Amino acid sequence: MTSQIFEIASIPADGVGVEVVEAGRNVLDALAQNSGGAFTFEWKDFDWGSDYYARHGRMMPVDGLDQLKDLDAIFFGAVGWPTVPDHVSLWGLRIAICQGFDQWANIRPVNFLPNVASPIVDAHERNLDWIVVRENSEGEYSGFGGRNFSGRAGLGEVATQSAVFTEVGCERIFRYSFDLARTRPRKKVSKVTKSNAQQFGMVLWDDVFDRVAQDYPDVETESVLVDAMAAKFILKPEDLDVVVASNLHADILSDLGSAMAGSLGLAASANLNPERRFPSMFEPVHGSAPDIAGQGIANPVGQIGSAALMLDHFGLNAEADRVRAAIEKTCADGVRSREVGGSSSTRDITSAIIDNLG
Ligand code: NAI
Ligand code: MG
Repeated sequence: MTSQIFEIASIPADGVGVEVVEAGRNVLDALAQNSGGAFTFEWKDFDWGSDYYARHGRMMPVDGLDQLKDLDAIFFGAVGWPTVPDHVSLWGLRIAICQGFDQWANIRPVNFLPNVASPIVDAHERNLDWIVVRENSEGEYSGFGGRNFSGRAGLGEVATQSAVFTEVGCERIFRYSFDLARTRPRKKVSKVTKSNAQQFGMVLWDDVFDRVAQDYPDVETESVLVDAMAAKFILKPEDLDVVVASNLHADILSDLGSAMAGSLGLAASANLNPERRFPSMFEPVHGSAPDIAGQGIANPVGQIGSAALMLDHFGLNAEADRVRAAIEKTCADGVRSREVGGSSSTRDITSAIIDNLG
């Protein structure tokens, strides 16, 4: 049998990123070892992040993207540490990769797991299963703007930060969302907007959505203002299936979704370049969690769930399902991290998930 070899960049970066990336890699390597030689993962280690910044004054080398561009995927932890301003660390590494590799679709499933208490009443009886699709290349995080007039007397400084919406950017994220909805039983896309207050960018966003929707008459749609959507997440989450939102809106709503499922540490995400011109990047939704870093107690489930999304991207869907089933079984067995009421360490949870791969 010929073996498939996947070359993967490992970028743990900062804080708990280091601990959870190790966990995710161990799960993936265990799968490969059990694959009877069908596939293997070749890891390329990159020590980029805030420590690298302290030594080199940059988050990654000047030719960082060149070093990554021919690999099959990027397995990323989290970036950010109190020694570096957050906008420097985020733009210097994560957003540089997302934008440089046109990873325009960020998908963030919201998963409710057994034995993990949700703050939502009766969550486990309500069949909650939705996925946030985040426009990941433009919108409010386009990086257009500036600061000036700091020399003026008094409180004189001025800053602008423009949100950029393009027809191309809107069209492709909506088509992606409708295609995704077609693969799911409910077949519904909820579009998040704020076009009542933002009459240019968000109205273009709405117009393109309506146009694309005409090509998908079999998919139900709704348009919900972002503030109302925040309320709907809490009050009527059983009404959600695919939720598509701009970069900023989806960033916020996906954290809300993970908190509703019980913890930020549970949530997985994929930053996809669907055309596959560049590698895609797989990372948990959470950040570097400096408050718990280095203690071995971080929840690895978000990172391991991101590994499952990477397996899906490689076409190893049965393997991805095995990982998700192992996560469910592990939680059902009561092996949980501290922030969701358990007492298991990162390594204990990872070993249990590996044992449950079946
Ligand atoms: P955070 O996600 O790091 O932490 C928020 C809360 O969730 C903390 O109480 C933390 O302990 C908890 N938490 C996060 N991950 C967890 C896990 N795996 N297990 C258990 N608990 C977990 O967000 P915060 O505190 O706002 O940001 C910390 C740093 O991370 C900042 O520098 C920020 O810029 C960066 N960040 C990076 C992201 C990325 O690389 N994609 C995403 C979000 C934040
Ligand atoms: Mg976020």
